[in-house]
Amino acid sequence: MSALLSVPGRLTVGADGALSGASGRYTKHLGDMGGVYRDQGAYEQLVAQRGADALVYTVHEHRNVETEGALIIGTSTLLPGRVGEEFAVTRGHLHARADRAELYHCLSGSGVMLLETVDGRSEAVPLTAGEAVHVPGHWVHRSVNTGEQPFVTLFCYPADAGQDYGLIEEAGGMATLVVDDGAGGWTTRPNPDHTGYSGRA
Ligand code: NI
Repeated sequence: MSALLSVPGRLTVGADGALSGASGRYTKHLGDMGGVYRDQGAYEQLVAQRGADALVYTVHEHRNVETEGALIIGTSTLLPGRVGEEFAVTRGHLHARADRAELYHCLSGSGVMLLETVDGRSEAVPLTAGEAVHVPGHWVHRSVNTGEQPFVTLFCYPADAGQDYGLIEEAGGMATLVVDDGAGGWTTRPNPDHTGYSGRA
């Protein structure tokens, strides 16, 4: 038996993002989100009100080996909220091995998968329970909670993909903002601070 042979993982996936059988979890808190939102004043006010420890999102995941062809499967639970006009977001990333794709399947809540290429294409894909998006390789991706409830997705991606979190920050944020439309919904707007994803192929 190969040392790299893993045992099958049996997972129970809750609509609330609970994942029994998970091998790990991590959380991101308001204090981890500095520089992510465009409205720095609104961000600082929110940290002052709610505290740096306020939960923003939780990821449960199941992983075994990290060899080529292996998978990481998990759930992401992004709490609702707004920072200025922007809806709550995850940090977002491009896969370090940029050609690696990813599945996101919405389990509950409603939100948007914000997708961008380094050469300037941008798409905001709305998701509610039962809808999924197949994120191809070479697309920067970020979850946005546009609803009032936690936005919960099941994800699956290659274990050797890795994450490049730096490029969004280096670009002055993603090219597109998902903002309140003033009528109870959301819309997108260009981010005037975005300087392009230069230097990433
Ligand atoms: Ni990813």
